[in-house]
Amino acid sequence: MRIAVFSTKPYDEKGLSEAASDSGHDLTYFEARLTAATATLAADHDAVCAFVNDELDRACLSTLRDLGVQLVLMRCAGYNRVDLAAADEFGLTVARVPAYSPYAVAEHTIALMLGLNRRLHRAHSRVRNQDFSLDGLQGFDMHGKTIGIVGTGTIGTVFARLMRGFHCEVLAYDPYPNDEVVRLRGTYVELDELFERSKVISLHCPLTPDTHHLVDERRLKLLPEGALVVNTSRGGLIDTKAAIEALKSGELGGLALDVYEEEAELFFEDRSEQILTDDVFARLLSFPNVLITSHQAFFTNEALANIAQTTIANADAVAAGEPPEGLVEPA
Ligand code: NAI
Repeated sequence: MRIAVFSTKPYDEKGLSEAASDSGHDLTYFEARLTAATATLAADHDAVCAFVNDELDRACLSTLRDLGVQLVLMRCAGYNRVDLAAADEFGLTVARVPAYSPYAVAEHTIALMLGLNRRLHRAHSRVRNQDFSLDGLQGFDMHGKTIGIVGTGTIGTVFARLMRGFHCEVLAYDPYPNDEVVRLRGTYVELDELFERSKVISLHCPLTPDTHHLVDERRLKLLPEGALVVNTSRGGLIDTKAAIEALKSGELGGLALDVYEEEAELFFEDRSEQILTDDVFARLLSFPNVLITSHQAFFTNEALANIAQTTIANADAVAAGEPPEGLVEPA
């Protein structure tokens, strides 16, 4: 297959080229994000390979169909930016990498949670400035605290297991409870109760119309004093403006993010020479109790190798006329 790879970084090219070396597929790498405006780059290709912030809306998919593209290979788990109804209408097969390393994301969630709680971001910059004072760095013991996990699929369950290792009480909310979490002595409760009782809330559910702004003004008011919210799932799960108000009023004790509602225009690029025009993001950066990474939870050696291998295996399957392992069912 001729595969046009979008949003390519050097680490993508390395991993995919290694995984595809014996496959017979011919990969062309583009740095551009895949959008309706850039879709024509896929001319003369059978498939496109896209990443989390590529915009596979109806217009983009229509262009791809007109160019003869038959397959969309998402090299990530989430597919909330793919218009699945349009893909189905245009006869495009969509495949993804359902699980590549739940450990990568769950472990980064722990890093964010501990980093925020113990204010490591502030401590590090102070020490670099030879400021060895401790004021403002006080955290709390994780031991014995109640952790609320929203979404107990692959990643949420690994996170639950790790939190049990900290001797935390685990509360969970998921429309489809998971026996493994119950075996770990996690307790499923309603979402509002989870907000009322948790010292730390971690989000691990997909972004859908149902979960959009699941963390909103009303639920933020339910939190116990000083509670932290950690989001390594998708930015749209949190109403960011409501979170800013809750941080300003002190209702929210801290916020750690690996994802942000409007990240598509920001993340994955070096913008240090540019003026930041996103005022909401700029306000987030102004809080001492906000810790942000730019969608790097997946970014481990193991995860990148698995992503590349599964992506090429998905292409192999379609080339052989078989359903790919990571097939995304039409909407
Ligand atoms: P998964 O599909 O294994 O689990 C998702 C869980 O969410 C399922 O158990 C599902 O029943 C549950 N769920 C669905 N609707 C819900 C609702 N309304 N409320 C609560 N739970 C609900 O997905 P996985 O692999 O655990 O990934 C979770 C999310 O993590 C993905 O959707 C993706 O957005 C994000 N992710 C982020 C990465 C990063 O680098 N920051 C990397 C990989 C995934």
